[in-house]
Amino acid sequence: MTFLTTAAGAMELPAAPASGQFRPKFHYTAGRNWLNDPNGLVYLNGTYHLFYQHNPFGTDWGNMSWGHATSSDLRTWEEQPVAIPCDAQEAIFSGSAVFDAHNTTGFGTADAPPLVAIYTSAYSDASPLAGRQAQSLAYSLDEGRTWTKYQGNPVLDRASADFRDPKVFWYDGGAGSYWVMVAVEAVQRQVVLYKSADLKSWEYLSTFGPANATGGVWECPDLFELPVDGDPEDTRWVLVVNINPGGIAGGSAGQYFVGGFDGVSFRSGSTVTEGLQEDSTRMREYGWLDWGRDYYAAVSFSNVPDGRRIMIGWMNNWDYAASTPTGGWRSAMSLPRDVSLTRVQGGVKLRQEPVDAFRTAAPDGFRLGPQPLPPGFLELPATAAAARIDVEFEPGAARSVGLAVRAGDAGRTVISYDVATGTLALDRRQSGLVDFHPAFPSIESVAVPLQDGRLRLSIHVDRCSVEVFAQDGLATITDLVFPADASTAVAIFAEGEGARLTALAVVGR
Ligand code: FRU
Repeated sequence: MTFLTTAAGAMELPAAPASGQFRPKFHYTAGRNWLNDPNGLVYLNGTYHLFYQHNPFGTDWGNMSWGHATSSDLRTWEEQPVAIPCDAQEAIFSGSAVFDAHNTTGFGTADAPPLVAIYTSAYSDASPLAGRQAQSLAYSLDEGRTWTKYQGNPVLDRASADFRDPKVFWYDGGAGSYWVMVAVEAVQRQVVLYKSADLKSWEYLSTFGPANATGGVWECPDLFELPVDGDPEDTRWVLVVNINPGGIAGGSAGQYFVGGFDGVSFRSGSTVTEGLQEDSTRMREYGWLDWGRDYYAAVSFSNVPDGRRIMIGWMNNWDYAASTPTGGWRSAMSLPRDVSLTRVQGGVKLRQEPVDAFRTAAPDGFRLGPQPLPPGFLELPATAAAARIDVEFEPGAARSVGLAVRAGDAGRTVISYDVATGTLALDRRQSGLVDFHPAFPSIESVAVPLQDGRLRLSIHVDRCSVEVFAQDGLATITDLVFPADASTAVAIFAEGEGARLTALAVVGR
């Protein structure tokens, strides 16, 4: 049962419509209606809170409010009442949430400190601030169940129409200890940084960008520090900037920069091009969170213990999000990813792997051991409507190796590795329903060097998505697919002689 809290009180919504064939088995969707960006990702007392852009009243974007779901393992989510509903004056756009452990805001007490949401007020015509976007606060004294807007909103207003998506974290470093906000001036392709002692009054620090991909507005930034290969003495800061359109696969995507942050400015060590003149020939040199079409507005959780950095993206693309054929609900979240930094040839890169709940070895499932992989298709005696497939190829002298998933008479999604070019591709042109939007049928690709002659893929197939993690997460491809119910076959293939299969496991979900 879903309840919607409005100014008029709690209202019971009718039961959610039947799931439908595309409702994911292990990705979060709202029971009904529209969802986009993850917002306010925060961990507190054993619970992960996922807030998100949500239209409580329909399956299209609008009435933007913060939906809410909770989980203890990042795998099973329980939908909660709408956390921060829109009203006549403002829509509640994207933002973040922090645990204000020292009660710097005074919203709680020293003994019972608050959770604080920092969100973008997108003011409607009824507001004296009509047309502006500014940053506002809401707080919760009951671990995220109910929220109160701060009377002094907005807390940061630049008189801009495109100032949004504040991500706030507690900085504790050489320059002092304070809250830092990263937000965007979306149209200017800039990340702006501010600092505060109490989340209420903000002081300008610096601006980053434009840089690298600038073919669309910059949205939903994030900034965090990570050790390189686990060494606490050797850390870098990662600046995430989502961009729409102008992503690497077309439409929406996330890019990232690796560099340093001194408490005032972020300096990138990985910028390829500066300014608004993106160099289209160098797009593949930029840092991309994902090389598919359906990983957007990705941001990380705050307050997770043990220095873990976990990110979730909206598994969709603004190019066609309004047209995806899913009935009474629309859009899912990606799998939560553990992100880390690792040194590779040519610099320091992000590694992204599904969180433990999706990674731990399962005893059951179908397995193949090391063996030659002759030319042609080999259909496996395992079906996978929703499954995890771990496979390692040794392509050797073959031209290509790969798999077909969600395969059947009505189509298939093909993941292939071209040995000559060292390119991994996902082809969803024949994946099932593709003609609901002209931008949907597509092939995505990414350069993936073999490691000791091997290609390792971990593929997570759900009812409307395929997420590929290559070489233990050094490159990922996330794509929606809308296959026929009966398309559940899995096949592996090689083109040309000389390939070997080192290991394969298909574990159903
Ligand atoms: C990104 C975005 C954000 C904005 C929100 C509105 O997908 O456009 O910039 O805050 O969605 O729903």
